[in-house]
Parts: sequence; C-alpha cells; structure tokens
Amino acid sequence: MSSQSYFYENDILNLKTNSSAVPIADIIKNYERPTYIYNSYSIQNRIDAYTHIKNSDHSIHYALKANTNLEILKFIQKHKISADVVSWGEAEIALKAGFSPLQIIFSGVGKTKSEITNAIQSEVGLINVESAPELKRIIQIATSLNKTINIGLRINPDISVETHPYIATGFRENKFGVSSDDFSEIIDLLKSQKYVNLKCLGLHIGSQIQNLDPFINSLDKLIECVSFFRKKDFNITDVDLGGGIGIDYLSNDETNEIERIHLWLKTIEEKIKHLNLKFHLEPGRSIVARSGVLITEVQYIKQNQYKNFIIVDTGMHHLLRPPLYQSHHRILPLKFHKSKNEASFRADVVGPICESSDVIGFDRSFSEIKEGDLLAIMDTGAYGYVMSSDYNHHPRPIEILF
Ligand code: LLP
Repeated sequence: MSSQSYFYENDILNLKTNSSAVPIADIIKNYERPTYIYNSYSIQNRIDAYTHIKNSDHSIHYALKANTNLEILKFIQKHKISADVVSWGEAEIALKAGFSPLQIIFSGVGKTKSEITNAIQSEVGLINVESAPELKRIIQIATSLNKTINIGLRINPDISVETHPYIATGFRENKFGVSSDDFSEIIDLLKSQKYVNLKCLGLHIGSQIQNLDPFINSLDKLIECVSFFRKKDFNITDVDLGGGIGIDYLSNDETNEIERIHLWLKTIEEKIKHLNLKFHLEPGRSIVARSGVLITEVQYIKQNQYKNFIIVDTGMHHLLRPPLYQSHHRILPLKFHKSKNEASFRADVVGPICESSDVIGFDRSFSEIKEGDLLAIMDTGAYGYVMSSDYNHHPRPIEILF
C-alpha cells in the first residue's frame, strides 16, 4: 500500500487528511505567500510508526531542532511523545507546548553555564554529556546547587555514514560525543562526586541516513559500551540511539520509510531484549519533513541565451537546504495546466536573494508555467522554517498547521 502526505487528483495537488483530501490552493487562498503548510495527518502517521510496538520499554523524543512550530509541538506532545532539545531556547518552547521537564532530554555540544543551571534547576529528565570538560561543569553546578541530575554519555562510535558531510556526526573527527579514550577520565570524574548520576549511554551518527546498516553497527558498539560501564559498577538502565531514519526526497511514496522505521524499532528491541534496557530515539526529520510544503508564487519567467529561470517569491532565506547541502526538493505546481506528461520547459527555480547560490532547484521540468502560478516545494517540514532568516530583509514565511 502506498502512503503519501500530498497527492494529485485531477491534476490538482491535495493534502491528505484522515478522511479526505483538501486542495492546497483552497487552504492558502486567504493567506499571504510564501507559506509553509504542515499536514497534521502526516505527522500523526509518523508518530504511529514510531510508537506502534506495544509492551516495549522505549520512549520517543521528538528532536525540536527539525521544526519548533508551537502548534506542531502541542500536537506532538498530545500524542505522548517526549522532547529532545539542544538549547535552553528549545527547552523553553517545549515547556510552553506542554512537555514536562522530565520528558526533556537536553543534548548539544556547547551548553553554557546558564543553560546547565536552568536544566538542573528545572529537573529535566536527562542531560546528554558530550565531553569531559562539560561533565566537569555539570558536576560543579549540580554540587553548588545541591541537586542531583541524571545524565547520558554521548559516545562517538567512529562510524562514517553515507550522508552529506555537514550532517555526519559519528566519525572520530567530528566534534560530537566522547571516544573510548576518554572513558577513564569520565569514570574518575563521576566516581569523585555524588550529584551526577550516569544512567544512559547514547549516540547520534548523523542525519538523513536511509540505510539501516550503520544504525545497527552503532547499536552493537553501544551495547559493548553498556557492558563496559556496567562492569565498572555504573547502573546503566537506558540507551539513546539518536536521530531517526532519513527520507527519500526524490519520491512521493513514503511506504519504504515507514517500513524502515518499523524494522529499526524491531531490530533494537531484538538486540537489547536480554539486557534490561529502556531505549530512547530522537527523530526529527522523519516525523515532520513529509508533512511540510513551502508554497511560493512565480514572479517572473526569465530567459537568456543560456538558461531559463523561474523567479519565485521564496528562496535560500526561507529554505536553506538546497544551497547548503545541495539537497533536492521536488517542486510541483498546485495545478497542472497541461498534462503532467507534457513536461517541456526546463528552468532553474531561483529566489529573489542577491546571491547566485539562491537556487531552490536546478534544471527542473514543467509542462507549462506562467507568472502568478503557485508551486509547492515538497518535504520541507523539517529544517525548513527553523533555518530561515530575514536576509535581504524579506519577511519569513507564514506557517499553517492543517
Ligand atoms: N539527535 C541529535 C543529537 C541530533 O544532532 C539530531 C540532528 C537529531 C537527533 C535529529 O536527527 P533527524 O532525526 O532529524 O535526522 N539541517 C540538516 C540536519 C541537521 C541535523 C542535526 N542533528 C538538514 O537540513 O538536513
């Protein structure tokens, strides 16, 4: 069975809901453009995929960095999902959306003193520690506050993965996590105090990884670490396996992604079932990416001797992923004038920003296109709006959760 968050019917692009389909053009007709539309039905499906295994001791912490829209956070929170934050700013918005401090995992490589103080005073569920100097700082602050705190230790498993180098994080040369060389220093620090309790070991090897093998290899490495720390008398009760599975930006069919989520959960369960461990996941992209589309209006069709350009009213200031990671997002008309099989016009889809890197899609085909047409930039629910800016002083897009 194929699964899609958006689909065409009678040449009109629709958002899929529980019971029906709604033309996107109808949703946005009363709003200014550009607009991010998010589909709550799609988010619901992803939550279901991550929570479908019953009787399993695991918790899903949505990684807020992917999308911090308050309405989305409230929606996710209502579905018994917890939160993963990487700044106190994200923690504050998580609390505002209704997540309890206990549901929060506080990750990130550069936590400041005030962020750590806030986390300990608010009694967040877990602080994921990324280095010995950070652990020293946490011990100092917890001791001075006379408060205990649970921590997880983020391991750098030295695994290289197939993804863009900017978002691979589990290789030894990346700034993230601690290597086994640092374990003895960490153990000495922990044994010399009584406020900081190591209960979890974790890792995050990178984002937009579609193949399960590196996830499985990293889990095997983590299990070895659990046994090492347990032998050193630490009561490790939890493991945190980091972010979620990547998505296929080239296709509208989401079936494989959902199956991979199921398979990953089953594999984890199978591998840790004799170890008496609770597991945590911190998916961001795979929960929200498919839910979002960025709607833009064609301003001009410009042709020169060498190239055609479709100039739209959005660009790298609203969606940084294409120039930053050379990432591909499908760009679809809200309505086909001619049959979609008659693709004839090829052009780069570009924005208004005064930089040649402001390209949302290179060499795309359209059947017919004209000024005023509306286009949907697909799969932009994750790392879209959150990475936007008002560069060149254009306003940010508006956002609608449907
Ligand atoms: N946990 C940690 C510690 C992370 O660093 C990340 C993502 C996640 C969880 C969530 O990973 P996900 O499930 O979304 O793959 N801006 C980039 C993605 C950066 C991801 C950074 N860390 C992009 O647009 O592709």
